Amino acid sequence: MSTMKLIHEIRTLDNQVLLPAGAELTDETIESLVSSNKHTTRTGSVLHHASVKEDLAHFLNQPPYNVIFSDQKQVSEVLDLIESVHVAVPVLQSLDYFKQHDFNTYRHILVVSALSTLLARDLVPDYQDRIHEAATGPAHDLGKVCVPLHILKKTDPLTQTERNILKQHTAAGYVLLSYYLKDSKSLTGKVARDHHERRDASGYPRAIPLTDPMVEIVTVCDVYDALISPRPYRPISYDNRTALEEITGMAERNEIGWEAVKALVALNRKTKPHYSECIVSHEKRGTSPRGNVYGITAEDESHNSDYDDT
Ligand SMILES: [Fe+2]
Ligand SMILES: [Fe+2]
Repeated sequence: MSTMKLIHEIRTLDNQVLLPAGAELTDETIESLVSSNKHTTRTGSVLHHASVKEDLAHFLNQPPYNVIFSDQKQVSEVLDLIESVHVAVPVLQSLDYFKQHDFNTYRHILVVSALSTLLARDLVPDYQDRIHEAATGPAHDLGKVCVPLHILKKTDPLTQTERNILKQHTAAGYVLLSYYLKDSKSLTGKVARDHHERRDASGYPRAIPLTDPMVEIVTVCDVYDALISPRPYRPISYDNRTALEEITGMAERNEIGWEAVKALVALNRKTKPHYSECIVSHEKRGTSPRGNVYGITAEDESHNSDYDDT
């Protein structure tokens, strides 16, 4: 990857510093880190871990996911697939950490995992293989283990420095996964690194065009769940219609592709039309919730781009 200077250290959950603040993140840095890992990383199924299976079932029972996941045949296909995906044990441990210290992130990670698998089922021809490679949702925000909890849970606007530390969860996730998997080219690492990039190169950390369909699916699911879920920086969430309008607006601005948006809208309809037959409304009737400090920076009260912090 192109050179990037770390503003905050990247450390594992057991406090091993992989890269200190100030380190340059170059291909060479990553490769030497990967080859320094002499341990064998064990893996396990996410759904067999702790109470994940019951917790996920509970989250998917809440609106709007109870509609999205209302086709039992689809749901069992998706859950069977997620059950067969094995992730590195430190990823499982990160779920314990989030469940204990930042429940919103725990819920978000599991829901994005299930939703992106469901969307991939519609959109990606070899989706089973790709889901196995990607270990999609469970690891996309792994890098948040490096973000101090007071930043993750802050209810006031973030300062620019705090926002930059938060944004570094992308690079941190990529570094951690490359290290654990001893592979700097894995799809799971790529998802962690690139899920905040946009098609028009307006995202971060590298501001490169979003091109991988699998990464794009996680991106769409990530933004959608962030909008409709409890978040520290606003008292109430977006209603479902307004959230879908926001996602539609992103496709209109070419930040994300139409196929993933159509698939998400189709899943939100009780009749479950095929996504290719789904006509997306361009009408904007919703409003963002009051008291939302999303994207506002403390020092200057100016708006950054939306959906930065998911
Ligand atoms: Fe996320
Ligand atoms: Fe993220």
